[in-house]
Amino acid sequence: MPSTAYDHPGPLAPDELLPQAGARSTPPATLPPAWADAVAAVIAERRHLDGALLPILHGVQDALGHVPADAVPMIAKAVNRSRAEVHGVITYYHHFRQTPARAHVLQVCRAESCRTMGGEALLAQAEALGREHGCTVEPIYCLGLCAQSPAVLLDDRPQARVTPAKLARLMASLKEAT
Ligand code: FES
Repeated sequence: MPSTAYDHPGPLAPDELLPQAGARSTPPATLPPAWADAVAAVIAERRHLDGALLPILHGVQDALGHVPADAVPMIAKAVNRSRAEVHGVITYYHHFRQTPARAHVLQVCRAESCRTMGGEALLAQAEALGREHGCTVEPIYCLGLCAQSPAVLLDDRPQARVTPAKLARLMASLKEAT
């Protein structure tokens, strides 16, 4: 039966998704080989999972600290999605970083309770001080500490009832530690 313009080629065979055994992957020119290998390893481990895109993105960020733009073509091919779809998922979720984080990561809660208890001012303060203290500042949406708002997560450690003075002390301690 002749094919029509609407025929879908179907999912790629596994050997089309990743390099053959013994063959080196051909990453995009701007993706460092070590990063391409890390992305390929995550893809190989997770591409068979249901809804593999999110687990792969989490794995890449865990491995590299961010999801490099140049990894998107590899990921898109592995999950049989367009690059635009993968990019859309990366930009939709605040969790995914497109650039590497600094030495420290401060996540400031922007959910309702923290916002009403001064969280927005803390975020502005943190953003003003972040670079000086080697700290990437990001929003996060509820840490489960609503009764102790406002809350932040500093290098994965929760901090509750954060005042401007407490935030300044926390960030100063980072500078002293580095
Ligand atoms: S609203 Fe900030 S911890 Fe819940």
